[in-house]
Amino acid sequence: MEVATQAPSHLSPVLARYFQRNWTHGEGHRLFDSDGKAYLDFSCGIAVTVLGHRHPHVTAAIHAQADRLLHTCNGLGYLEPVTALADALARVLPEPLDSVFLANSGTEAVEGALKLARRATGRPVIVAFSGAFHGRTYGSLSATTSNPNYQRGHEPLLPSVFISPFPDVYRLGEGDEDRATALALDALDRLLAEVGAESVAALLIEPVQGEGGYNPAPAAFLRAIRQRCDAGGMLLIADEVQCGYGRTGRMWGFESAGIVPDVVTLAKAMANGLPLGAIVSSRALQERWGMGAHGSTFGGNPVCCAAALAVLETIERDGLVANAAARGAELTAGLCALMARDERIGDVRGPGLMIGLELVRDRATREPDAELAAGVMARSADLGLLLLTCGTAHNVMRWIPPLDVTAAEVNEALGIFETALTG
Ligand SMILES: Cc1ncc(COP(=O)(O)O)c(C=O)c1O
Repeated sequence: MEVATQAPSHLSPVLARYFQRNWTHGEGHRLFDSDGKAYLDFSCGIAVTVLGHRHPHVTAAIHAQADRLLHTCNGLGYLEPVTALADALARVLPEPLDSVFLANSGTEAVEGALKLARRATGRPVIVAFSGAFHGRTYGSLSATTSNPNYQRGHEPLLPSVFISPFPDVYRLGEGDEDRATALALDALDRLLAEVGAESVAALLIEPVQGEGGYNPAPAAFLRAIRQRCDAGGMLLIADEVQCGYGRTGRMWGFESAGIVPDVVTLAKAMANGLPLGAIVSSRALQERWGMGAHGSTFGGNPVCCAAALAVLETIERDGLVANAAARGAELTAGLCALMARDERIGDVRGPGLMIGLELVRDRATREPDAELAAGVMARSADLGLLLLTCGTAHNVMRWIPPLDVTAAEVNEALGIFETALTG
């Protein structure tokens, strides 16, 4: 984070800000500050604006719906863009994920998924994974360990939430995927034996961990936990808030393992910037939740849903999942070439356009270099590229360009990043 240079305002100081700049407008893949300076926006408002800024199809859909109806609560009946969005999501998700509850944000989606899991199974325990970020409200926060500052002092948290080690290939596995998988599975099995699998409602996992450091869960691990869920009557909840929607070069993060979760949580990219989240499962599972068990005044706002329909249409029409895979391969190749020349890059990882680049003091010890990461982020911004850090040790540069990023923009960003790294 940059050191605050602005005079204190009436905005709460509790919110940490990556930059101390005033943002005025956006156009395509550029964000502009109040000095009129343009930045290539590879932050996407933290993995949200997957189609960039002022996308004509999304903006038109928003205007059209705003002219028709801004709000009535979904609890009052049916709204055309809401029903159409649920249909579209059911179409792009694998069977049997065809029943959609709409919320306003990622944390609400996770919160609702935990409630669904407990009530539908009649079991109390939720198992989440170390380094995860699921949100800031009490349920999702209880499963969030990406940064101790998030939970600290907010206790007591939700009871019966247990944390098992995430199969972090670079650190837990020391670079060996099989080792990370075996160690994490062993720990999970011990935990399940201790708490009793029959008391576990759900396993909650990000198929590619986001805030915790852009760590993909090995496919073998995802398949193994799917098996354990099937055997033990536990639900598998995939938190796709950050890794879903084409980000990984596939529509959904869990696809890489060839599994289908019982529940999927969505938000961020859904409406390219308007607040929207979703909990998706089979209809049979949501029926077990029971009518009236959950609700929301704003969830499924028709303007947000109209935008979300335009986002899905654009992703499909313009082949943006394939673009994410192709541009992601180019970006990864460029970053790996840089790693070959620069000892301070310890790891480059992640599928599609969800790439983590780990900065370390020493490749052998893997000691994180958060200071370098903060410096590179600040210098990149000065040079006109917005890149964010993440990771439990704040030393991972995360690469989350828009899904429709071009090869020229990937090259431009690589050039700026190299300059910022050497600067
Ligand atoms: C994987 C994941 N889940 C949940 C959330 C929470 O989403 P929100 O900030 O919209 O509440 C985030 C936010 O970064 C996330 O990355």
